[in-house]
Amino acid sequence: MENIDWKELGFGYLKTDWNARSTWRNGAWSPLEITQDEYLSLHMAATCLHYGQEAFEGLKAFRGVDGKVRIFRLEENAKRMIRTAEYTMMALPTMELFREACVEIVKRNERFVPPYGTGASLYIRPLLIGSGAQVGVKPATEYMFVVFVTPVGPYYKTGFKPISVMVDRHHDRSAPLGTGFVKVGGNYAASLLSGDMAHKAGFPGVLYLDACEKKYIDESGAANFFAIRDGAYITPKSPSILPSITNMSLRTLAADFGLRVEERPVEFAELPTFEEAGSCGTAAVISPIGKVYDPDEGKTYTFGDGATPGPWCVKLYEALRGIQLGEKDDVHGWNTVL
Ligand SMILES: Cc1ncc(COP(=O)(O)O)c(C=O)c1O
Repeated sequence: MENIDWKELGFGYLKTDWNARSTWRNGAWSPLEITQDEYLSLHMAATCLHYGQEAFEGLKAFRGVDGKVRIFRLEENAKRMIRTAEYTMMALPTMELFREACVEIVKRNERFVPPYGTGASLYIRPLLIGSGAQVGVKPATEYMFVVFVTPVGPYYKTGFKPISVMVDRHHDRSAPLGTGFVKVGGNYAASLLSGDMAHKAGFPGVLYLDACEKKYIDESGAANFFAIRDGAYITPKSPSILPSITNMSLRTLAADFGLRVEERPVEFAELPTFEEAGSCGTAAVISPIGKVYDPDEGKTYTFGDGATPGPWCVKLYEALRGIQLGEKDDVHGWNTVL
């Protein structure tokens, strides 16, 4: 693509050529429709608009060192969308539908897969919405599944440099028995205000604590939290966080490297004991956390010098990127190679 400055790409929407859609009606998904239309025609009483009956996913395709395109952990993203659909009583997309739509749309938009070495990738956004009309609070009888793609650069402007995050004890993005563990739009609507407050205070990320006691670390904006201490990879186990597929992959890589993996409730009070901290997600990849600012206590916790990624963050980042870019053997079978 002659007009795109791949190295300068941010994390935003850029129009591509094709997207895919399927409609669930009378108990079956329609054959995929491939279109150039960026708009959906929707009934004004669609349940997604009124009752938040919607789910989305986020995964990436990468141009590898060998020129091939790889989609990272497609099946895990499909499984998570199916879990979200179950919880919100939507028609379940099948694994086949999810796979076919992602693969077809990445292939058709291949000219938008950023070149190897630019640090950019093609973000894939599957979307599932209740499209049937309903006025009572009930599940819809019709659903729409959509997949579009857009090329993206780093989520944080700083790229692979430590970020500073701010603790927010005054908002919760989700509740322990609520929707935090699935990927519904409402969780993100609930996070906009605290994200905006953190940005205005000069912090690119928010650190959420558990909704009940504000004693445990939940997650960091749209990314999971992890820390390194005494040869252990430590990450919160909480009912109100989204089970990150990046985090799942990092736990495997950490174990491969001989780190002990601890997935358990992580107390905020442990923060000063960590050697390294980081946030991880499809968009953020690994963003090392240099500083955590706690406005209620007026305290800042710093990891290392606060400006240089720690050695384990670097090692895990390189291992993950290496697999995604086809530089390292995909020993766990995470890539769909097109
Ligand atoms: C709230 C939240 N937590 C964590 C993540 C990271 O998950 P993953 O690694 O599957 O992208 C995301 C992004 O999907 C998210 O939105």
